[in-house]
Amino acid sequence: MIRFDVITAFPELITSYCNESIIARAQKADKIKIFAHNLRNWTTDRHKVIDDKVFGGGPGMLLKVEPLFKAITELKQKAISDGFIPKVYISVASGNLFTQQKAGQIAHADENRAYIILCGHYEGFDARIMEFVDETLTVGPYVLTGGELASLIMIDAVTRLLPGVLGNESSANLETTFTLSNGKILVDEEYPQYTTPAVFTFTDEQGVEQTRRVPDILRSGHHKKIQEENNSQRVKKVLVTE
Ligand SMILES: C[S@@+](CC[C@H](N)C(=O)[O-])C[C@H]1O[C@@H](n2cnc3c(N)ncnc32)[C@H](O)[C@@H]1O
Repeated sequence: MIRFDVITAFPELITSYCNESIIARAQKADKIKIFAHNLRNWTTDRHKVIDDKVFGGGPGMLLKVEPLFKAITELKQKAISDGFIPKVYISVASGNLFTQQKAGQIAHADENRAYIILCGHYEGFDARIMEFVDETLTVGPYVLTGGELASLIMIDAVTRLLPGVLGNESSANLETTFTLSNGKILVDEEYPQYTTPAVFTFTDEQGVEQTRRVPDILRSGHHKKIQEENNSQRVKKVLVTE
């Protein structure tokens, strides 16, 4: 069993996403447990302050180290007493890149694992918290307003790989794959797929009527030929080059 404990100043951002669709069903079916914890629960002052100005100047506010430290300590202890091995991730724009391979490693662990994820906000964290985390996490080379989206990306990518979550296990096997090689991301792209209508008609910007048909072979019912056609339509490309 995998469990995610997300520490955030905005827990509703996590729960609103995780309480819908596939992730919600996975939780109901006990495939995964997801907890969103409000960082303010670990403050001791009346106003539940979690952030403050940066020493030495600079714009914006930083998340304070004490509530983060208390949250990590308490959630690690809770995970251990519940029989889970904890690992603490911190979301930072410059962290270790979260990949499909990583999602697979997490999803296929054979022990009970608790992933505690710290979500930054504003300008980020007091740097002293880094001593208490196991790994950094980035979802890509861009700066987000907070770590909540990064946590959700990780939770989402892992959850759909858990046995029984998608219903049709083969759908995850046929999907786009990514291989990291010499600083490049090599993509084996899923073949194009179509649904009804078999014939799609529209009027283009020049006012000319256009028709796009689903390839006949895909409607032939001939499974071997369909498989061959789909395999031939997979595209290999480089997603990112340095
Ligand atoms: C506005 S960002 C802070 C950016 C920070 N001042 C910097 O220059 O790296 C606020 C928070 O969003 C999260 N975040 C931003 N970009 C991210 C990314 N690409 N992957 C994961 N988390 C990210 C981190 O938790 C970060 O502390």
